[in-house]
Amino acid sequence: MIIRNIILPFSILTLMLTGCTDSPDETEPIMAEEALSTYDIIQTEIWDKNCVTCHQTGTSFARQSNLILAKGESYNQLVNRLPHNEAARADGLLLVGTKGLQSIHNSFLWEKINFPDYAHFYDDHPGYGELMPLGGQALTNGELRFITEWIIKGAPDTGNVANIELLMDTKRFELPTEPFERLMPPGSGLQLNIGPFDIQPKSEREFFYYKELDNDEDLFVNRVQIAMREGSHHFILYDYPNGNQPVSESYRDFYDEDGNFNILTAASVLNQRFVFGTQWRNVDYSFPAGVALRIPENTGFDLNSHYVNRTDEVKEGEISVNLHTLDKSAVQYVAENLFESYEDIRLPAGEITTLERASTFNERMHVFQLTSHAHQHMTEFEIYIKGGDRNGELVYFTNDWEHPPLVTFDPPIILEKGHGFTARATYNNTTSRTLRFGLLSEDEMMIVFGAFYTD
Ligand code: HEC
Repeated sequence: MIIRNIILPFSILTLMLTGCTDSPDETEPIMAEEALSTYDIIQTEIWDKNCVTCHQTGTSFARQSNLILAKGESYNQLVNRLPHNEAARADGLLLVGTKGLQSIHNSFLWEKINFPDYAHFYDDHPGYGELMPLGGQALTNGELRFITEWIIKGAPDTGNVANIELLMDTKRFELPTEPFERLMPPGSGLQLNIGPFDIQPKSEREFFYYKELDNDEDLFVNRVQIAMREGSHHFILYDYPNGNQPVSESYRDFYDEDGNFNILTAASVLNQRFVFGTQWRNVDYSFPAGVALRIPENTGFDLNSHYVNRTDEVKEGEISVNLHTLDKSAVQYVAENLFESYEDIRLPAGEITTLERASTFNERMHVFQLTSHAHQHMTEFEIYIKGGDRNGELVYFTNDWEHPPLVTFDPPIILEKGHGFTARATYNNTTSRTLRFGLLSEDEMMIVFGAFYTD
């Protein structure tokens, strides 16, 4: 199982949000141009207007979804291609198949845009991510029918296979505004809630919020549940193992209302350590049986949320987190953090450099999670097993510095005493100065994070 994840969001999203245009007279000019193929119309009238702001080369959204919907590329990105989403891939879906009606049932694209079936989407497929367009309103009923027609006719690249008049139906399905419900508090454990908080129209909001747990003894967490109001892009829990935690119970935004970067927020997170995170709105993750994370007494978590609002109205965000605990006596293994930071970094100006660093460990370890951290010049990060029968096996890969996946291993990777990992990271230093290890987003890092337990 793989949970997609994000770490240290030092990102400066340069996303230009454009609106959904739905005035009926817009369909007029296309009707005149008989020569356009059905797919050309899908491109210019639907993808270009609703999807390409995110699904184009260079955005973090495109890296996260591995999907480009720009003109000239979108057809090959969609048709007869496997989804990037692990759950959809495991269910045997294609983004779009060419077998007509049968392909509707087998299409991940269709699942992702079919708002009217939202209950099925969220209830039956918790691993499928969010409905698309992310943080926006549904495509019009006409657009959805037009796309259905195109798929039923075998999803051709050329030719007219769908009736253009379908697009005249500009009504949209609106998700029922069911009040968001906080999770039922765990039978044993504790609950953290933040919000509701506002996200302004056509904007994004990323903040941190530190909460004391008020725990007078150590806690052993073996299951994490998260539920969020719609529109979330990511959510992460951090702790401060070496102290220096920020002030409690206040919203520390990355950007102020005028869009200026808040350097105090950036400074406040320098000592944080990744604990758990998700890009999905509903998550229920259990650690391997008998394994639990130890939360020391009287600590807290920094909650990091990033919301996207593409609508014209102020939206509310809200997050509810359950940390289920085990009685200490039931804990067989305490999960420990693997944290290998390689600070010997020197990246010459204007060059592509690959660094290889290895670590070995002096006890037998069961590693059940791995992720990485680097900054914006990192183009690829790989982790290989070092030593033993599986020596040289690639167990982790990312080409996304902003949203590295949190890869979980079941069964865990067993490293015998003296074995370890080799990390290989490639950086493209496009600046005119040598880059070295450092905390700011202009510096670089090379960190292997993970979770393990010992015998
Ligand atoms: C605000 C940014 C944003 C917009 C706008 C957007 N997407 Fe996405 N899309 C994402 C992100 C982020 C993901 C990955 C997370 C997820 O699947 O929920 C994604 C995932 C997808 C996937 C799954 C890809 C895979 O292989 O796993 C499809 C299909 C998709 N989007 C289609 C669309 C379409 C079609 C539109 C326009 C109607 C659209 N998206 C608009 C951000 C966006």
